[in-house]
Amino acid sequence: MKGIICAGGKGTRLYPLTRATNKHLLPIYNKPMIYYPIQTLVNTGIKDILIVVSEPHSGDFINVLRNGEEFGLKKVEYAFQDESISGISGAISCGGSFADNDNIVVILGDNTTDADIKKDVENFKKGAKVFLKQVDNPNRFGVPVFDENKNILTIEEKPKNPKSNYGVTGLYIYDNTVFERIKKLKPSARGELEVTDLNNSYIEDNLLEWSELPGFWNDAGTFESLFLSNQYWANKER
Ligand code: DAU
Repeated sequence: MKGIICAGGKGTRLYPLTRATNKHLLPIYNKPMIYYPIQTLVNTGIKDILIVVSEPHSGDFINVLRNGEEFGLKKVEYAFQDESISGISGAISCGGSFADNDNIVVILGDNTTDADIKKDVENFKKGAKVFLKQVDNPNRFGVPVFDENKNILTIEEKPKNPKSNYGVTGLYIYDNTVFERIKKLKPSARGELEVTDLNNSYIEDNLLEWSELPGFWNDAGTFESLFLSNQYWANKER
């Protein structure tokens, strides 16, 4: 199993904070944001990580993370996502040759959690696995639509009228068919290759599992959620 951290995108929602450096290098309490998803992957036993970056400030990642030795990693690689393949699935597609024939764990670079997904990673065989969390504002996220047995029928991306109060978190486990599946995706109305469309392709083949993520989880893509992440990790670390 290998790890991919999606740390591309422009971070415009956090202007002016992101004018001088990349969103994923902003502080969450006493560490740069990206340290948290790296640690989540390291905790599962993963030793090889690819970090997908894009402009602006992509060079800053190497200055901060160097060769990953600080985390006990065997290998950190970097891939550059250009604008022609924007979207989270576009970012994942940059990891095809890095993954080789392995399965992958993907984490979005602005997601922090104290959940331990080691068992999920160890037990994973095929298809895909997503992790859900009950949220107050599901319309900010991918939102699952369940049948009466709590199987996911489909996932809707940022729906105006969410059909459940769960959000799909930015942690995903995929088998190696992920790269062929992304090739078949079409850009959404906002011009992005959506991770939700990717997950729906696994649902169509009856190959998507889910579980509820325990503990704390948050993304840090808005001022409010960045503040909440800081507040949580400061309280925990102090
Ligand atoms: O946080 C979980 C949510 O993340 C999911 O519930 C949604 O289904 C998923 O679409 C995503 O929604 P966001 O609106 O939060 O995505 P955002 O555009 O903020 O991107 C989140 C991270 O993904 C970002 O920190 C870096 C990475 N990313 C994003 C884009 C658009 C890339 O690496 N490349 C990209 O092109």
